[in-house]
Amino acid sequence: MQFRNFRMVNYVVYGRGSFDQLDEILAPNRKGDAPMIFLLDHFFKGKALAGRIPLQGRDKLIFADVTYEPKTTQVDQLASALKEEFGTVSGIIGIGGGSTMDLAKAVALMMTNEGSSADYQGWDLVKVPGVYKVGIPTISGTGAEVSRTCVLTGPTRKLGMNSDFTPFDQIVLDPALTTNAPVNQRFYTGMDCYIHCIESLQGTYLNEFSKSYGEKALELCQEVFLHKDKWDDHSDDQLMMASYAGGMSIAYSQVGVAHAVSYGLAFLLGTKHGIGNCIVFNHLEAFYPEGVREFHEMVKKNNIDIPTGVCKNLTDAQFDTMINVSLGMKPLWENALGKDWEKIMTRERLRALYERL
Ligand SMILES: [Fe+2]
Repeated sequence: MQFRNFRMVNYVVYGRGSFDQLDEILAPNRKGDAPMIFLLDHFFKGKALAGRIPLQGRDKLIFADVTYEPKTTQVDQLASALKEEFGTVSGIIGIGGGSTMDLAKAVALMMTNEGSSADYQGWDLVKVPGVYKVGIPTISGTGAEVSRTCVLTGPTRKLGMNSDFTPFDQIVLDPALTTNAPVNQRFYTGMDCYIHCIESLQGTYLNEFSKSYGEKALELCQEVFLHKDKWDDHSDDQLMMASYAGGMSIAYSQVGVAHAVSYGLAFLLGTKHGIGNCIVFNHLEAFYPEGVREFHEMVKKNNIDIPTGVCKNLTDAQFDTMINVSLGMKPLWENALGKDWEKIMTRERLRALYERL
């Protein structure tokens, strides 16, 4: 038995207003006059947060276009533009949701690794450490702040650069940054966390490490989305810790059916992760009966619409593309259904599932 020996985030600061410590946190990590590069979710263009970025010297603020989830081409372009402009940089700071944080991780790695980020999609392919990187979530649930991957859509697959060099050196968890997240988006992203918990806790890879974090994260999700009548500041505090703990839970286990199926949707249709997971999870009662029942309750209580009919007009070739991408996520299926997963989740059964979405 080979036990996983994984890297974690080096430094964590948590608390309302902790974002104001960023300048102080970055100071000892500055290398001469090499700039810090801030990648800020374009949602914050013209908003107060953009004016609170602690720019010094040659530092640069870039608004990250995360209309679509990060692509390997976007990562490569950003990294080569930065190399051209500055030669080297002190670090990359990603401020936003999962897409922005993953983009920051990938660009930081591509500042030092040769070739294209597409060459490193997979497990443990990254050769050398990237530059210093910081993650600052402005919406809670993805777990990207703690994960050892950065999910990218490449020419042939949607897969992360999963490596020991991928986790952030520092994360800043300031729940006040999530206060103004749009209600629907907050729900979809929060459900990403809820689904991480269900998939981890119901998975065959589960151990006491994953279970401890998963149960706490699940409890926090239930508290904010089910047991409270109104969203308040404390809900933001709780969901931010749920995201962290949910991410820690899957660090030692794995996600499952909803993620494997939604990666296919994302690859073909560009469906974003949070909403894609909801679209899929909505129909997974055969795999996660209790979780799906509770999910339906949360959808109702929070007055959210989950899209349906997204695969209505697809061709056989398009279904095949989704099925190929999805079945390629072997560890996810194995965690969800056990070693014999290929006998359980046949192409026909997966096709029938996609047709229902
Ligand atoms: Fe996820």
